[in-house]
Amino acid sequence: MKPNRLSIALGVVLTLSANIALANIDLKQTATELTTLLRSARSVTVNKVTIDDPSKFVLADFVVKTKSNYKDAAGKPFDDSDEMLNHLMDAIVFVIGNAKEGRYKDKWNSGDYAGKFLPARFAREAGLKFEQLTQGKATIRLTTSDRLLVNKQNKSQPWENLVIEQKFMASSWPKNRIYDKYTKEGFQLLLPEYYNAGCLGCHGGEQGKKIHASPIAGELGDFGGAISVFIRR
Ligand code: HEC
Repeated sequence: MKPNRLSIALGVVLTLSANIALANIDLKQTATELTTLLRSARSVTVNKVTIDDPSKFVLADFVVKTKSNYKDAAGKPFDDSDEMLNHLMDAIVFVIGNAKEGRYKDKWNSGDYAGKFLPARFAREAGLKFEQLTQGKATIRLTTSDRLLVNKQNKSQPWENLVIEQKFMASSWPKNRIYDKYTKEGFQLLLPEYYNAGCLGCHGGEQGKKIHASPIAGELGDFGGAISVFIRR
């Protein structure tokens, strides 16, 4: 039987939508892997020695630890052939190298954590470099609710704010569930994070009330912030 025009048109539509669905899965996977890589590197920066004195970083060790954390978290080795992952790894190496050379010394020169190479500061710098390396095609950043905000430069964009306030901060949102959406502009992914015991020294108690935009003392397991990924169409 000869295919009629309708069935050809239908075939085209089905193939197209299958391709779009596939593209969405790919983007979600890429975006999720980016959050895993950023977390894998950030957890290496959670170290009193290098927070106080980043000249103590050993770059090769940092990369080995990051890749090992990544493998544990992703359940597969770091993929050298993935362009986006490589951009983020290059950004991470760039920032750790700069920190080692003391290039951020004067950047954070006031407040309670002056001069400290904090994990959140590492994440911010790595995200900015990543955006540059992808020539603006993709971004990765830490952000949070306006009430918990410490550094105004991490303020949420409108779409992030909506997801944080209406979904992540609602008691009905399952813990750790990722938000993702393909919009006209591109692919959005937001991964919620929660305060653990290690965060509370700064985000809990009187210190939390002091550093947050609103006088909020973070508690164990509370929503603390989110890693946001955006990949432009
Ligand atoms: C040593 C103190 C300290 C610890 C420990 C700490 N933070 Fe922070 N956190 C800060 C400071 C200070 C900033 C602002 C950083 C800057 O100047 O850019 C910040 C920024 C952030 C941000 C970015 C949004 C914003 O408000 O600027 C998030 C999200 C965040 N912290 C969550 C956490 C979580 C979750 C943990 C534990 C896993 C944690 N922090 C551990 C002090 C700390």
